[in-house]
Amino acid sequence: MIQRKAEGTEEMRTYTVAILGATGLVGGKLIALLEERNFPVQRLLPLASRRTAGETILFKGQPITVLEATPEIFQGVDIVLASAGGNISEVLVPEAVKRGAVVIDNTSQFRLVEGVPLVVAGVNDSDLQNHRGIIANPNCSTMQLMPILKALDALAGIERVIVSTYQSASGAGKEAIDELCASAGELVATQFKAIPQSKNFSRPLAFNVIPQIDVFMEDGYTKEEFKVYAESRKILHRPDLKISCTAVRVPVLVGHSEAVNIDFKRPVSPEEVAACLGNLPDVIVANSPADFHTPQETAETDPVYVSRIRQDSSNPECGIALWIVADNLRIGAALNAVRLAEVLHQQNLVSVPQHV
Ligand SMILES: NC(=O)c1ccc[n+]([C@@H]2O[C@H](COP(=O)([O-])OP(=O)(O)OC[C@H]3O[C@@H](n4cnc5c(N)ncnc54)[C@H](OP(=O)(O)O)[C@@H]3O)[C@@H](O)[C@H]2O)c1
Repeated sequence: MIQRKAEGTEEMRTYTVAILGATGLVGGKLIALLEERNFPVQRLLPLASRRTAGETILFKGQPITVLEATPEIFQGVDIVLASAGGNISEVLVPEAVKRGAVVIDNTSQFRLVEGVPLVVAGVNDSDLQNHRGIIANPNCSTMQLMPILKALDALAGIERVIVSTYQSASGAGKEAIDELCASAGELVATQFKAIPQSKNFSRPLAFNVIPQIDVFMEDGYTKEEFKVYAESRKILHRPDLKISCTAVRVPVLVGHSEAVNIDFKRPVSPEEVAACLGNLPDVIVANSPADFHTPQETAETDPVYVSRIRQDSSNPECGIALWIVADNLRIGAALNAVRLAEVLHQQNLVSVPQHV
């Protein structure tokens, strides 16, 4: 829909926006961010499963009823922000595109499909140009790495990256958070005598760490680790990038942390890296080692936080080690999706090409 601005002649397009997975952790953030950033929503359509259809969510102070997600519901929708899981996206995203909606998908379903842009706003926006209706939002642990690796690759050419992640429970959805809180309480109450079984993780997470996120693959890596490897190469247009990840779930509520070691093609100093990253928008670089960031103090904020920048003692000339923290629900998921919607809007790309 085109709306004429009251004060002038400039026209602004407004959109019917569907949130697929509106009652989830990411869905809730998507709705909050559309409001917070004043995205031109003409009508909001919160969608979820039959279980929660009929509940209400608040948007701009107004209660809106959650509807069951069905193929037909996407008729007349301009933009879908999808975060209901890969199996739901597999079925419903093509149905939405068929009906003319542009979909920004938070799941892993289409990320590595050829021809589907996998985009981090501000890193590879130009990949949006030839979208065919589906745009993929990267994995949360890939997302916070990308602005950093992009800038440092331009600075000195990245040879190799080793990433160890410390990922919060919220990365596994709302039930995982509830389980962590309940089982932590239970453990304390029983003085650690009764260890509650986990429904959401392969081992109990409270007071523990789990070196498994997603399923194991044939080569011994997990699928989460593979996502960081493959998605980074696609986003950075570096199919040759040497990158290895160990992904670990930790009993943190919100915020993913990453210990990252980077080998460069030329000697680089910590000061040079700090100056380079300090120039990036939405990146906060600590001034001293003791100023490091933790997920607890950075949750509910938008920047990517970088600290502990130091020469890598295993590669003292060309290696750098650093610590990166970001809110996985905001920058790692919903914020990027809304930023991509903003770029599509600004560049007049909210339409599905005829030949699709
Ligand atoms: N959490 C993160 O940090 C993060 C980051 C990046 C990407 N993602 C991806 O985003 C997706 C959602 O994550 P989340 O953390 O928001 O999960 P969540 O809190 O468990 O929410 C899941 C959402 O999907 C909906 N849903 C489930 N089954 C459905 C169905 N059959 N039809 C329609 N809707 C259905 C749920 O609706 P009901 O309430 O009706 O069950 C709920 O709204 C996942 O694919 C995840 O991998 C998550």
